Amino acid sequence: MSTCSNGATPRREFLQTAGRLTAASALAGVAVPHVHAAEDNTIRVALIGCGGRGTGAAANALSTKSGPIKLVAMADVFDARLKASHKALSKQFAAKIDIAEDRKFIGFDGYRKAMDCLKPGDVALLATPPAFRWVHFGYAIEKGLNVFMEKPVTVDGPTTRKLMKLGEASVQKNLKVSVGLMSRHSKARQALLQQIKDGAAGEFILMRTYRMHGPIASFASGPKPAGIGELFYQIQRFHSFLWASGGCFSDFNIHSIDECCWMKGAWPVQAQATGGRHYRGDLIDQNFDSYSVEYTFADGTKLFMIGRCISGCANEFNNYLHGSKGLVTVTGSGQTPAKCRIYHGHNADSAKLAWNYADREPNPYQVEWDVLIDAIRHDKPHNEVQRGAEASLVTSMGRMAAHTGRIVTYDEILHHDHEFAPMVDRLTMTSPAPLLAGKDGKYPVPQPGIVTNREYA
Ligand SMILES: NC(=O)c1ccc[n+]([C@@H]2O[C@H](COP(=O)([O-])OP(=O)(O)OC[C@H]3O[C@@H](n4cnc5c(N)ncnc54)[C@H](O)[C@@H]3O)[C@@H](O)[C@H]2O)c1
Repeated sequence: MSTCSNGATPRREFLQTAGRLTAASALAGVAVPHVHAAEDNTIRVALIGCGGRGTGAAANALSTKSGPIKLVAMADVFDARLKASHKALSKQFAAKIDIAEDRKFIGFDGYRKAMDCLKPGDVALLATPPAFRWVHFGYAIEKGLNVFMEKPVTVDGPTTRKLMKLGEASVQKNLKVSVGLMSRHSKARQALLQQIKDGAAGEFILMRTYRMHGPIASFASGPKPAGIGELFYQIQRFHSFLWASGGCFSDFNIHSIDECCWMKGAWPVQAQATGGRHYRGDLIDQNFDSYSVEYTFADGTKLFMIGRCISGCANEFNNYLHGSKGLVTVTGSGQTPAKCRIYHGHNADSAKLAWNYADREPNPYQVEWDVLIDAIRHDKPHNEVQRGAEASLVTSMGRMAAHTGRIVTYDEILHHDHEFAPMVDRLTMTSPAPLLAGKDGKYPVPQPGIVTNREYA
Protein backbone atom coordinates (compact mmCIF):
# COMPACT_ATOMS: atom_id res chain seq x y z
CA MET A 1 0.00 0.00 0.00
CA SER A 2 1.36 3.38 -0.97
CA THR A 3 2.05 6.59 0.88
CA CYS A 4 0.05 9.64 -0.16
CA SER A 5 1.51 12.83 -1.46
CA ASN A 6 -0.45 15.96 -1.94
CA GLY A 7 0.55 19.22 -3.55
CA ALA A 8 -2.34 21.60 -2.78
CA THR A 9 -2.09 24.73 -0.62
CA PRO A 10 -2.28 23.85 3.09
CA ARG A 11 -5.75 24.78 4.34
CA ARG A 12 -4.66 27.11 7.14
CA GLU A 13 -2.29 28.98 4.82
CA PHE A 14 -5.16 29.31 2.34
CA LEU A 15 -7.51 30.70 5.00
CA GLN A 16 -4.85 33.11 6.25
CA THR A 17 -4.21 34.32 2.71
CA ALA A 18 -7.95 34.70 2.12
CA GLY A 19 -8.17 36.63 5.43
CA ARG A 20 -5.38 38.99 4.39
CA LEU A 21 -7.07 39.57 1.03
CA THR A 22 -10.34 40.36 2.80
CA ALA A 23 -8.66 42.85 5.15
CA ALA A 24 -6.66 44.53 2.41
CA SER A 25 -9.71 44.82 0.14
CA ALA A 26 -11.83 46.29 2.93
CA LEU A 27 -9.18 48.95 3.54
CA ALA A 28 -8.97 49.77 -0.13
CA GLY A 29 -12.76 49.93 -0.42
CA VAL A 30 -12.79 47.47 -3.31
CA ALA A 31 -14.74 44.27 -3.75
CA VAL A 32 -13.29 41.14 -2.16
CA PRO A 33 -12.24 38.64 -4.82
CA HIS A 34 -14.68 35.77 -4.89
CA VAL A 35 -13.00 32.83 -3.20
CA HIS A 36 -14.10 29.28 -3.86
CA ALA A 37 -13.29 27.78 -0.48
CA ALA A 38 -15.10 24.51 -1.09
CA GLU A 39 -12.06 22.31 -1.66
CA ASP A 40 -9.42 24.00 0.45
CA ASN A 41 -11.88 24.69 3.22
CA THR A 42 -12.46 20.96 3.63
CA ILE A 43 -10.93 19.54 6.77
CA ARG A 44 -9.49 16.11 6.10
CA VAL A 45 -9.38 13.53 8.86
CA ALA A 46 -7.20 10.42 9.18
CA LEU A 47 -8.42 7.78 11.63
CA ILE A 48 -5.65 5.87 13.40
CA GLY A 49 -7.06 3.03 15.49
CA CYS A 50 -10.33 1.96 13.88
CA GLY A 51 -11.98 0.25 16.86
CA GLY A 52 -15.13 1.11 18.79
CA ARG A 53 -14.18 4.59 19.96
CA GLY A 54 -12.20 5.50 16.87
CA THR A 55 -15.22 4.73 14.72
CA GLY A 56 -17.48 6.66 17.12
CA ALA A 57 -15.13 9.65 17.20
CA ALA A 58 -14.89 9.66 13.40
CA ALA A 59 -18.70 9.71 13.30
CA ASN A 60 -18.65 12.71 15.65
CA ALA A 61 -16.08 14.42 13.43
CA LEU A 62 -18.19 13.85 10.32
CA SER A 63 -21.29 15.09 12.17
CA THR A 64 -19.83 18.55 12.82
CA LYS A 65 -21.82 21.18 10.97
CA SER A 66 -19.42 24.12 10.66
CA GLY A 67 -18.10 23.31 7.18
CA PRO A 68 -16.94 20.58 4.83
CA ILE A 69 -15.13 17.66 6.44
CA LYS A 70 -14.04 14.29 5.09
CA LEU A 71 -12.45 11.10 6.28
CA VAL A 72 -9.62 10.42 3.84
CA ALA A 73 -7.38 7.74 5.39
CA MET A 74 -7.52 4.95 7.94
CA ALA A 75 -4.87 2.91 9.76
CA ASP A 76 -5.00 -0.08 12.08
CA VAL A 77 -2.92 -3.12 12.88
CA PHE A 78 -5.85 -5.48 12.28
CA ASP A 79 -7.29 -5.55 8.77
CA ALA A 80 -10.67 -6.78 10.05
CA ARG A 81 -11.04 -3.82 12.43
CA LEU A 82 -10.30 -1.33 9.68
CA LYS A 83 -12.72 -3.01 7.28
CA ALA A 84 -15.54 -3.13 9.87
CA SER A 85 -15.03 0.53 10.76
CA HIS A 86 -14.91 1.59 7.12
CA LYS A 87 -18.10 -0.32 6.40
CA ALA A 88 -19.97 1.20 9.36
CA LEU A 89 -18.85 4.75 8.58
CA SER A 90 -19.53 4.39 4.85
CA LYS A 91 -23.07 3.30 5.62
CA GLN A 92 -23.73 6.36 7.75
CA PHE A 93 -21.63 9.02 5.98
CA ALA A 94 -21.23 7.87 2.36
CA ALA A 95 -20.72 11.40 1.02
CA LYS A 96 -18.03 12.22 3.56
CA ILE A 97 -15.87 9.13 3.16
CA ASP A 98 -13.18 9.50 0.53
CA ILE A 99 -10.95 6.51 1.10
CA ALA A 100 -9.52 4.67 -1.88
CA GLU A 101 -7.99 1.26 -1.19
CA ASP A 102 -4.51 2.82 -1.23
CA ARG A 103 -5.45 5.04 1.70
CA LYS A 104 -6.16 2.12 4.06
CA PHE A 105 -3.01 1.18 5.94
CA ILE A 106 -2.32 -1.90 8.01
CA GLY A 107 0.72 -2.14 10.27
CA PHE A 108 2.64 -0.32 12.97
CA ASP A 109 3.80 2.30 10.46
CA GLY A 110 0.26 2.80 9.14
CA TYR A 111 -0.14 5.95 11.22
CA ARG A 112 2.64 7.67 9.26
CA LYS A 113 1.17 6.69 5.92
CA ALA A 114 -2.32 7.82 6.97
CA MET A 115 -1.01 11.18 8.22
CA ASP A 116 1.02 11.56 5.01
CA CYS A 117 -2.36 11.74 3.23
CA LEU A 118 -3.17 14.96 5.12
CA LYS A 119 -2.02 18.53 4.74
CA PRO A 120 -1.01 20.91 7.54
CA GLY A 121 -4.14 22.06 9.35
CA ASP A 122 -6.03 18.79 8.84
CA VAL A 123 -6.84 16.41 11.73
CA ALA A 124 -5.24 13.18 12.93
CA LEU A 125 -7.67 11.17 15.06
CA LEU A 126 -5.72 8.96 17.49
CA ALA A 127 -7.81 6.17 19.02
CA THR A 128 -5.44 3.25 19.47
CA PRO A 129 -4.68 1.93 22.95
CA PRO A 130 -2.87 4.75 24.81
CA ALA A 131 0.61 3.16 24.65
CA PHE A 132 0.98 4.51 21.11
CA ARG A 133 -0.26 8.03 21.84
CA TRP A 134 3.10 9.81 22.19
CA VAL A 135 4.45 8.11 19.07
CA HIS A 136 1.49 9.09 16.91
CA PHE A 137 1.18 12.56 18.43
CA GLY A 138 4.87 13.25 17.76
CA TYR A 139 4.45 12.53 14.06
CA ALA A 140 1.26 14.62 13.87
CA ILE A 141 3.16 17.60 15.29
CA GLU A 142 5.97 17.06 12.76
CA LYS A 143 3.36 17.17 9.98
CA GLY A 144 1.63 20.30 11.36
CA LEU A 145 -1.62 18.45 12.00
CA ASN A 146 -4.35 19.23 14.49
CA VAL A 147 -5.17 16.27 16.70
CA PHE A 148 -7.98 14.55 18.51
CA MET A 149 -6.57 11.93 20.87
CA GLU A 150 -8.49 9.59 23.11
CA LYS A 151 -7.89 9.29 26.85
CA PRO A 152 -5.78 8.14 28.67
CA VAL A 153 -2.92 9.84 26.86
CA THR A 154 -0.13 8.28 28.93
CA VAL A 155 0.33 5.12 31.00
CA ASP A 156 3.31 5.91 33.26
CA GLY A 157 5.70 8.68 34.38
CA PRO A 158 8.11 8.58 31.41
CA THR A 159 5.37 8.64 28.77
CA THR A 160 3.73 11.53 30.64
CA ARG A 161 6.94 13.52 30.47
CA LYS A 162 7.17 12.82 26.75
CA LEU A 163 3.59 13.82 26.13
CA MET A 164 3.89 17.04 28.13
CA LYS A 165 6.92 18.00 26.07
CA LEU A 166 5.09 17.21 22.86
CA GLY A 167 2.15 19.22 24.18
CA GLU A 168 4.42 22.26 24.53
CA ALA A 169 5.63 21.77 20.95
CA SER A 170 2.04 21.57 19.71
CA VAL A 171 1.20 24.83 21.51
CA GLN A 172 4.27 26.47 19.94
CA LYS A 173 2.99 25.40 16.53
CA ASN A 174 -0.52 26.69 17.31
CA LEU A 175 -1.99 23.25 16.68
CA LYS A 176 -5.45 22.59 18.03
CA VAL A 177 -5.47 19.46 20.17
CA SER A 178 -8.40 17.78 21.91
CA VAL A 179 -8.14 15.02 24.50
CA GLY A 180 -11.15 12.68 24.78
CA LEU A 181 -12.06 13.63 28.34
CA MET A 182 -15.41 14.64 26.93
CA SER A 183 -16.98 15.37 30.33
CA ARG A 184 -15.05 18.64 30.27
CA HIS A 185 -17.37 19.59 27.40
CA SER A 186 -20.52 18.53 29.22
CA LYS A 187 -22.80 21.59 29.41
CA ALA A 188 -24.35 20.31 32.64
CA ARG A 189 -20.98 19.92 34.35
CA GLN A 190 -19.84 23.30 33.07
CA ALA A 191 -22.97 24.85 34.61
CA LEU A 192 -22.36 22.90 37.82
CA LEU A 193 -18.80 24.19 38.02
CA GLN A 194 -20.10 27.76 37.75
CA GLN A 195 -22.49 27.03 40.64
CA ILE A 196 -19.60 25.67 42.68
CA LYS A 197 -17.46 28.73 41.89
CA ASP A 198 -20.39 30.93 42.91
CA GLY A 199 -20.40 29.20 46.30
CA ALA A 200 -23.60 27.14 45.95
CA ALA A 201 -22.01 24.07 47.58
CA GLY A 202 -19.82 25.93 50.08
CA GLU A 203 -16.28 24.75 50.83
CA PHE A 204 -15.34 21.24 49.66
CA ILE A 205 -14.87 18.79 52.50
CA LEU A 206 -14.71 15.47 50.69
CA MET A 207 -15.09 13.93 47.23
CA ARG A 208 -16.07 10.33 46.44
CA THR A 209 -16.13 8.44 43.17
CA TYR A 210 -17.37 4.92 42.37
CA ARG A 211 -16.92 2.81 39.27
CA MET A 212 -18.21 -0.62 40.19
CA HIS A 213 -19.54 -3.16 37.70
CA GLY A 214 -18.81 -6.60 36.37
CA PRO A 215 -15.88 -7.46 34.10
CA ILE A 216 -16.16 -5.41 30.90
CA ALA A 217 -14.09 -4.85 27.74
CA SER A 218 -10.78 -6.77 27.94
CA PHE A 219 -10.47 -6.34 31.71
CA ALA A 220 -9.84 -10.08 32.22
CA SER A 221 -7.80 -12.34 29.95
CA GLY A 222 -7.01 -16.01 29.89
CA PRO A 223 -3.96 -17.65 28.31
CA LYS A 224 -3.25 -16.58 24.73
CA PRO A 225 -5.13 -18.80 22.31
CA ALA A 226 -3.42 -20.38 19.29
CA GLY A 227 -3.61 -18.49 16.02
CA ILE A 228 -2.62 -15.02 17.25
CA GLY A 229 0.85 -13.71 18.06
CA GLU A 230 1.72 -12.55 21.57
CA LEU A 231 2.07 -8.88 20.58
CA PHE A 232 -1.28 -8.85 18.80
CA TYR A 233 -2.98 -10.69 21.64
CA GLN A 234 -1.82 -8.03 24.10
CA ILE A 235 -2.89 -5.18 21.81
CA GLN A 236 -6.26 -6.77 21.19
CA ARG A 237 -6.81 -7.20 24.94
CA PHE A 238 -5.17 -3.94 25.92
CA HIS A 239 -7.13 -3.35 29.16
CA SER A 240 -5.41 -6.47 30.52
CA PHE A 241 -1.86 -5.18 30.07
CA LEU A 242 -0.35 -2.23 31.88
CA TRP A 243 2.04 -1.26 29.08
CA ALA A 244 -0.77 -0.98 26.56
CA SER A 245 -3.39 0.91 28.57
CA GLY A 246 -2.41 1.50 32.19
CA GLY A 247 -4.76 -1.44 32.85
CA CYS A 248 -8.44 -1.29 33.69
CA PHE A 249 -7.57 1.18 36.45
CA SER A 250 -6.46 3.89 34.06
CA ASP A 251 -8.92 3.13 31.30
CA PHE A 252 -12.04 2.93 33.47
CA ASN A 253 -11.34 5.46 36.22
CA ILE A 254 -9.68 8.39 34.49
CA HIS A 255 -12.96 10.17 33.66
CA SER A 256 -14.19 10.04 37.26
CA ILE A 257 -10.88 11.17 38.72
CA ASP A 258 -10.58 13.96 36.16
CA GLU A 259 -14.12 15.20 36.77
CA CYS A 260 -13.58 15.46 40.53
CA CYS A 261 -10.21 17.20 40.13
CA TRP A 262 -11.74 19.60 37.61
CA MET A 263 -14.48 20.56 40.09
CA LYS A 264 -11.87 20.90 42.82
CA GLY A 265 -9.65 23.03 40.56
CA ALA A 266 -6.50 21.12 41.54
CA TRP A 267 -4.62 17.88 41.03
CA PRO A 268 -3.91 15.68 44.07
CA VAL A 269 -0.37 15.68 45.44
CA GLN A 270 -0.30 12.08 46.68
CA ALA A 271 -2.19 8.80 46.86
CA GLN A 272 -2.38 5.72 49.04
CA ALA A 273 -4.41 2.74 48.00
CA THR A 274 -5.38 -0.89 48.38
CA GLY A 275 -6.51 -3.47 45.87
CA GLY A 276 -6.41 -7.17 45.15
CA ARG A 277 -7.08 -10.12 42.89
CA HIS A 278 -9.90 -12.35 44.08
CA TYR A 279 -11.50 -14.87 41.74
CA ARG A 280 -8.88 -15.30 39.05
CA GLY A 281 -9.19 -18.95 37.93
CA ASP A 282 -7.00 -19.24 34.83
CA LEU A 283 -7.14 -15.49 34.13
CA ILE A 284 -3.63 -14.13 33.73
CA ASP A 285 -4.06 -10.42 32.96
CA GLN A 286 -2.28 -7.86 35.17
CA ASN A 287 -5.36 -6.22 36.74
CA PHE A 288 -6.66 -6.22 40.29
CA ASP A 289 -10.39 -6.90 40.64
CA SER A 290 -10.87 -4.11 43.16
CA TYR A 291 -9.13 -0.83 43.93
CA SER A 292 -9.62 1.71 46.66
CA VAL A 293 -7.63 4.94 46.55
CA GLU A 294 -7.32 7.92 48.86
CA TYR A 295 -6.11 10.94 46.91
CA THR A 296 -4.89 13.91 48.96
CA PHE A 297 -4.82 17.52 47.72
CA ALA A 298 -2.33 20.17 48.84
CA ASP A 299 -4.95 21.72 51.15
CA GLY A 300 -5.49 18.36 52.89
CA THR A 301 -8.89 17.58 51.34
CA LYS A 302 -9.45 14.04 50.07
CA LEU A 303 -10.89 12.26 47.07
CA PHE A 304 -11.80 8.61 47.69
CA MET A 305 -12.04 6.40 44.62
CA ILE A 306 -13.52 2.92 44.64
CA GLY A 307 -13.27 0.70 41.58
CA ARG A 308 -14.43 -2.88 41.24
CA CYS A 309 -14.89 -5.31 38.35
CA ILE A 310 -16.69 -8.26 39.96
CA SER A 311 -20.03 -9.71 38.92
CA GLY A 312 -22.76 -10.25 41.47
CA CYS A 313 -21.90 -7.21 43.60
CA ALA A 314 -23.64 -3.84 43.98
CA ASN A 315 -22.96 -1.65 40.94
CA GLU A 316 -22.38 2.08 41.09
CA PHE A 317 -21.00 4.67 38.64
CA ASN A 318 -21.27 8.07 40.35
CA ASN A 319 -19.16 11.01 41.51
CA TYR A 320 -20.07 12.99 44.64
CA LEU A 321 -18.67 16.10 46.28
CA HIS A 322 -19.53 17.10 49.83
CA GLY A 323 -19.40 20.84 50.42
CA SER A 324 -20.05 22.75 53.63
CA LYS A 325 -23.54 23.59 52.25
CA GLY A 326 -24.48 20.15 50.96
CA LEU A 327 -24.04 17.30 48.50
CA VAL A 328 -23.12 17.65 44.80
CA THR A 329 -23.59 14.91 42.20
CA VAL A 330 -21.15 15.46 39.32
CA THR A 331 -22.03 12.23 37.59
CA GLY A 332 -25.12 10.17 38.22
CA SER A 333 -25.23 6.65 36.75
CA GLY A 334 -22.65 6.86 33.98
CA GLN A 335 -20.97 9.60 32.05
CA THR A 336 -23.76 11.11 30.01
CA PRO A 337 -26.23 12.62 30.69
CA ALA A 338 -24.43 13.90 33.77
CA LYS A 339 -27.46 14.40 36.06
CA CYS A 340 -25.68 17.19 37.96
CA ARG A 341 -27.44 18.23 41.14
CA ILE A 342 -26.80 20.14 44.37
CA TYR A 343 -28.72 19.14 47.50
CA HIS A 344 -29.14 20.75 50.91
CA GLY A 345 -27.63 18.28 53.38
CA HIS A 346 -25.55 15.22 52.50
CA ASN A 347 -28.19 12.83 51.17
CA ALA A 348 -29.32 12.74 47.55
CA ASP A 349 -32.84 13.60 48.72
CA SER A 350 -34.98 15.04 45.91
CA ALA A 351 -37.07 16.90 48.49
CA LYS A 352 -33.93 18.86 49.35
CA LEU A 353 -32.81 19.72 45.84
CA ALA A 354 -31.00 23.07 45.79
CA TRP A 355 -30.03 23.13 42.08
CA ASN A 356 -30.15 20.90 39.05
CA TYR A 357 -29.26 21.26 35.39
CA ALA A 358 -32.69 21.60 33.89
CA ASP A 359 -31.86 21.78 30.17
CA ARG A 360 -31.49 18.81 27.87
CA GLU A 361 -27.77 18.06 27.78
CA PRO A 362 -26.13 17.88 24.35
CA ASN A 363 -23.95 14.82 23.81
CA PRO A 364 -20.47 15.81 25.08
CA TYR A 365 -18.82 13.39 22.60
CA GLN A 366 -20.28 15.57 19.84
CA VAL A 367 -19.65 18.89 21.61
CA GLU A 368 -15.93 18.14 22.02
CA TRP A 369 -15.66 17.73 18.23
CA ASP A 370 -17.75 20.82 17.51
CA VAL A 371 -15.35 22.80 19.72
CA LEU A 372 -12.23 21.36 18.05
CA ILE A 373 -13.40 21.94 14.50
CA ASP A 374 -14.65 25.43 15.33
CA ALA A 375 -11.24 26.24 16.88
CA ILE A 376 -9.51 25.02 13.71
CA ARG A 377 -11.78 26.94 11.33
CA HIS A 378 -11.56 30.18 13.31
CA ASP A 379 -8.04 29.85 14.72
CA LYS A 380 -9.19 29.94 18.35
CA PRO A 381 -6.78 28.83 21.07
CA HIS A 382 -7.54 25.18 21.88
CA ASN A 383 -5.04 22.75 23.34
CA GLU A 384 -6.00 20.18 26.00
CA VAL A 385 -2.74 18.24 26.14
CA GLN A 386 -1.38 19.48 29.46
CA ARG A 387 -4.55 18.73 31.40
CA GLY A 388 -4.98 15.40 29.57
CA ALA A 389 -1.45 14.40 30.55
CA GLU A 390 -2.01 15.52 34.15
CA ALA A 391 -5.27 13.58 34.38
CA SER A 392 -3.50 10.49 33.02
CA LEU A 393 -0.64 10.97 35.48
CA VAL A 394 -2.72 11.33 38.64
CA THR A 395 -4.72 8.30 37.54
CA SER A 396 -1.43 6.37 37.23
CA MET A 397 -0.45 7.73 40.68
CA GLY A 398 -3.45 6.03 42.32
CA ARG A 399 -2.81 2.82 40.40
CA MET A 400 0.85 2.75 41.37
CA ALA A 401 -0.05 3.31 45.02
CA ALA A 402 -2.35 0.26 44.89
CA HIS A 403 0.14 -1.87 42.96
CA THR A 404 3.13 -1.10 45.21
CA GLY A 405 1.37 -0.67 48.56
CA ARG A 406 3.19 2.63 49.13
CA ILE A 407 2.21 6.26 49.31
CA VAL A 408 3.05 7.66 45.87
CA THR A 409 3.44 11.39 45.31
CA TYR A 410 2.77 13.40 42.15
CA ASP A 411 6.49 14.20 41.88
CA GLU A 412 7.46 10.54 42.26
CA ILE A 413 5.18 9.23 39.55
CA LEU A 414 6.07 12.14 37.24
CA HIS A 415 9.82 11.52 37.57
CA HIS A 416 9.68 7.71 37.88
CA ASP A 417 11.94 5.78 35.50
CA HIS A 418 9.73 2.73 34.90
CA GLU A 419 8.63 3.07 31.29
CA PHE A 420 6.43 0.03 30.63
CA ALA A 421 7.14 -0.21 26.88
CA PRO A 422 10.09 1.95 25.82
CA MET A 423 10.27 0.23 22.42
CA VAL A 424 6.71 0.98 21.41
CA ASP A 425 7.83 3.36 18.65
CA ARG A 426 9.89 0.61 17.02
CA LEU A 427 7.37 -2.24 16.95
CA THR A 428 6.93 -4.14 13.71
CA MET A 429 4.50 -6.88 12.78
CA THR A 430 7.07 -9.48 13.93
CA SER A 431 8.34 -7.79 17.12
CA PRO A 432 8.17 -9.62 20.44
CA ALA A 433 5.55 -8.27 22.87
CA PRO A 434 6.68 -5.63 25.39
CA LEU A 435 5.56 -7.98 28.20
CA LEU A 436 6.65 -11.60 28.34
CA ALA A 437 4.91 -14.40 30.21
CA GLY A 438 7.01 -16.40 32.69
CA LYS A 439 7.77 -20.14 32.41
CA ASP A 440 4.42 -20.83 34.05
CA GLY A 441 2.69 -18.97 31.19
CA LYS A 442 1.63 -16.16 33.53
CA TYR A 443 2.35 -12.45 33.12
CA PRO A 444 3.91 -10.56 36.04
CA VAL A 445 1.24 -9.09 38.33
CA PRO A 446 1.66 -6.33 40.91
CA GLN A 447 2.71 -7.51 44.38
CA PRO A 448 2.04 -4.72 46.91
CA GLY A 449 4.50 -4.77 49.80
CA ILE A 450 6.84 -7.15 47.91
CA VAL A 451 7.64 -5.35 44.68
CA THR A 452 7.47 -1.74 45.85
CA ASN A 453 9.77 0.32 43.61
CA ARG A 454 7.77 -0.34 40.42
CA GLU A 455 4.38 -1.78 39.54
CA TYR A 456 5.57 -5.23 38.48
CA ALA A 457 8.93 -7.00 38.32
N1 LIG B 1 -13.78 8.85 25.91
C1 LIG B 1 -14.42 7.72 26.14
O1 LIG B 1 -15.46 7.69 26.80
C2 LIG B 1 -13.85 6.45 25.58
C3 LIG B 1 -14.69 5.34 25.39
C4 LIG B 1 -14.12 4.17 24.86
C5 LIG B 1 -12.76 4.12 24.58
N2 LIG B 1 -11.99 5.22 24.81
C6 LIG B 1 -10.54 5.17 24.54
O2 LIG B 1 -10.31 4.97 23.16
C7 LIG B 1 -9.14 4.17 22.97
C8 LIG B 1 -9.52 2.95 22.11
O3 LIG B 1 -10.49 2.21 22.80
P1 LIG B 1 -11.54 1.28 22.02
O4 LIG B 1 -12.56 0.92 23.01
O5 LIG B 1 -11.93 1.92 20.77
O6 LIG B 1 -10.64 0.01 21.71
P2 LIG B 1 -10.70 -0.94 20.42
O7 LIG B 1 -9.87 -2.14 20.71
O8 LIG B 1 -12.11 -1.11 20.02
O9 LIG B 1 -9.98 -0.05 19.31
C9 LIG B 1 -8.60 0.19 19.28
C10 LIG B 1 -8.17 0.02 17.84
O10 LIG B 1 -6.80 0.43 17.69
C11 LIG B 1 -6.13 -0.54 16.87
N3 LIG B 1 -4.70 -0.44 17.13
C12 LIG B 1 -4.00 -0.92 18.19
N4 LIG B 1 -2.71 -0.56 18.10
C13 LIG B 1 -2.58 0.15 16.96
C14 LIG B 1 -1.48 0.79 16.33
N5 LIG B 1 -0.26 0.78 16.86
N6 LIG B 1 -1.70 1.43 15.14
C15 LIG B 1 -2.94 1.44 14.59
N7 LIG B 1 -4.02 0.85 15.16
C16 LIG B 1 -3.84 0.22 16.33
C17 LIG B 1 -6.77 -1.85 17.26
O11 LIG B 1 -6.53 -2.87 16.34
C18 LIG B 1 -8.23 -1.45 17.38
O12 LIG B 1 -8.90 -1.54 16.15
C19 LIG B 1 -8.64 3.82 24.36
O13 LIG B 1 -7.65 4.74 24.74
C20 LIG B 1 -9.86 4.00 25.23
O14 LIG B 1 -9.57 4.34 26.57
C21 LIG B 1 -12.51 6.37 25.28
